[in-house]
Amino acid sequence: MDALRDEPVSVDVEHGLFVLRTPNSIYALRIGEDGSPRHVYWGEPLDVAELREWRSPSHSSFEADPAPDELPIETGARFGPAGLRVRFADGVRGAQWRYVGHEIEDGVLRIKLEDRFYPLACELVYRVRRDSDVIERWTEVRHTGADDPADPDSTANIAPEPIVVEHCDSASWTLPKQADYRLSHLVGGWGSETQLQRDRLPVAETVLVSRRGTTSHHANPWLALDAGDADETSGQVWSAALAWSGSWRIAVHRDPVGRVTFTGGYGHEAQTFRIEPSERVVTPIFAGLYNGDGFGGTSRAWHEYARRHVLPHPEEDRPVLYNSWEAMGFDLTEAKQLELAGLAARTGVELFVVDDGWFGARRDDHAGLGDWTTYPGAFPNGLKPLADEVHRLGMRFGLWVEPEMVNADSDLFRAHPEWVVHAPTRQATELRNQLLLNLARADVAAWVYDTLDRLVRENDVDFFKWDMNRPFTEAAWPGAPDPDRLWAVAVRNVYGIIDRLREAHPGLRIEGCSSGGGRIDLGMLARVDQVWTSDNTDPVDRIEIQAGYGQVYPAAAMAAWASDSPSPITFRETPLRFRFHVAMAGALGIGGNLTVWSEAELAEAAGLVAEYKEVRGLVQRGVAYRIQTADGVSGVHYAAPDDSEHAVLVWRPTMRFAHEPAPVPLPGLRAGARYRDLFWGVTYSGEVLRERGLELGLPAGDYASRLIRLVRVAE
Ligand code: DGJ
Repeated sequence: MDALRDEPVSVDVEHGLFVLRTPNSIYALRIGEDGSPRHVYWGEPLDVAELREWRSPSHSSFEADPAPDELPIETGARFGPAGLRVRFADGVRGAQWRYVGHEIEDGVLRIKLEDRFYPLACELVYRVRRDSDVIERWTEVRHTGADDPADPDSTANIAPEPIVVEHCDSASWTLPKQADYRLSHLVGGWGSETQLQRDRLPVAETVLVSRRGTTSHHANPWLALDAGDADETSGQVWSAALAWSGSWRIAVHRDPVGRVTFTGGYGHEAQTFRIEPSERVVTPIFAGLYNGDGFGGTSRAWHEYARRHVLPHPEEDRPVLYNSWEAMGFDLTEAKQLELAGLAARTGVELFVVDDGWFGARRDDHAGLGDWTTYPGAFPNGLKPLADEVHRLGMRFGLWVEPEMVNADSDLFRAHPEWVVHAPTRQATELRNQLLLNLARADVAAWVYDTLDRLVRENDVDFFKWDMNRPFTEAAWPGAPDPDRLWAVAVRNVYGIIDRLREAHPGLRIEGCSSGGGRIDLGMLARVDQVWTSDNTDPVDRIEIQAGYGQVYPAAAMAAWASDSPSPITFRETPLRFRFHVAMAGALGIGGNLTVWSEAELAEAAGLVAEYKEVRGLVQRGVAYRIQTADGVSGVHYAAPDDSEHAVLVWRPTMRFAHEPAPVPLPGLRAGARYRDLFWGVTYSGEVLRERGLELGLPAGDYASRLIRLVRVAE
């Protein structure tokens, strides 16, 4: 009883109940009568003694055990989306489990299952931590055909033929029954990533998916469900995020009798693979979160989880970056880069990044990808002199690479046409004139690692911008025994290369990019320091893109540039200050062509960069409260975890009539405390700022913005 009350993971053997406890939620499951793990509860903490007797009421003998599965299989009276689909050598499909035990260690619960007839074992794994409400789940499946056949319980006595895994999800999650359901998720495209979509959930199967071999701009592997009554500050929200950077699929099933379950994991339909005796499949993590403080509370819990348990260097300040892409395109010269570097250093930039176009025959996007040697026409003495000058100016040196790709017009392709993902009998689709290298091949992965490692060593590279600009098509792997493995192995090898590089070069930092924000997920965030959020740097569009990103991912990892006006993407003209203020909500960078900025603009930029540096600890490691008012003001309030200081960034793209916006309540402040506005020097009580709100003092006109700083003062 006490154990059930206190421990992060506990088991009540007598009642067959497993309980996971996070600081603000409880999750419970039991082993069903058929040996399959069944869901009991996920939500607000409650007295677990009550859960002991909980069974889902059965209304009809026409339904078998109605308790939802922790991972639905294809046998029994189960007709929703399956989380595990397997086929055995004799053509029989679907597992039938018997529970063989469990293991609890360091907050990790493993529920161990074996098929009743075939040599298949499965572990459903749950990890809980004392400092987060996020529950990490994954699945491990093993072919036990090589196990000891002398063991009477072993399933190894069946002929050890391969087992086909048609689909293996990481986890299935079930909500307590609600009167209605609403689904929030992130959709978009190139230049319009992470748009928050919030709709009533239909009584149907709703599939969120990427079939692109990468995370996708079009859908992001995160979702949130509520009863339709949650808002920014209150209400129950159940959400989940998949840590995977390849194809993925999350099927949400709202059945006609009012139950919602969603199952998700890596791979989209039709990617099957075989497992051989003793082979084990380990899925990526599908993390789930229950939060009772609305969408704002949910986002803050995800940010904190990412900072504590995902990002490689959460404690580090992300440097202010300059990137030459928007300024120069492919038209790089050493002289221009040196000029930009000098100007960047003057504005307070700390990391200078050379983007696409520095290598091979890369004068546009038709040639050169794959040839990672400096283009002598642009850099006659290689990159080292530029890197040295950047370092001399007190900045770090960054380099753009797209190591998973090749142009057909490249020395690499001419030497190794077989390295490309292709089938000789299919026309290979070129997207952005490029083909995909088969990173699942060990020789290709080794070449990519060696190439990047060489670039770091030869040029003192401190930072890679790792781009990935096309999805998988005609994804064949001729000659491979199990070609569909390409999809997952390529992703794992990308992870492995990044991990090895970081180990070999502990000072190296990496930005993940995929034509903007096409590869933003917790799997990537576990190994890169930041992600390029979108190629769209128009601050008005960025407000929405960043708000969607911030539903789940933390500001520290959100690369955001102040760029030129008019925007190279939307041609909208906006003031410099507004562009900076929007970009200051994440890891600030500058993307504009500094060589055409006036002295006054450079000085204003330097002032804004300096101001950003004063608040970046708050932005990157603070607690974020979104602001969205009915009169068109949005923003983010970043609070120091100890409440000592606060930065409030507010933006109003359009002036409506001549109305002063209403004061904005800041619920992240403490009622009993007092805060001084550093600009006006006025002191307010927390109660007033929470309830009545802060006067924003926005200037009149369109594209108004402000950075407001508050410090807590002694009472
Ligand atoms: C796509 C990226 O999103 C851009 O920032 C830039 O790096 C280009 N690729 C370069 O080709």
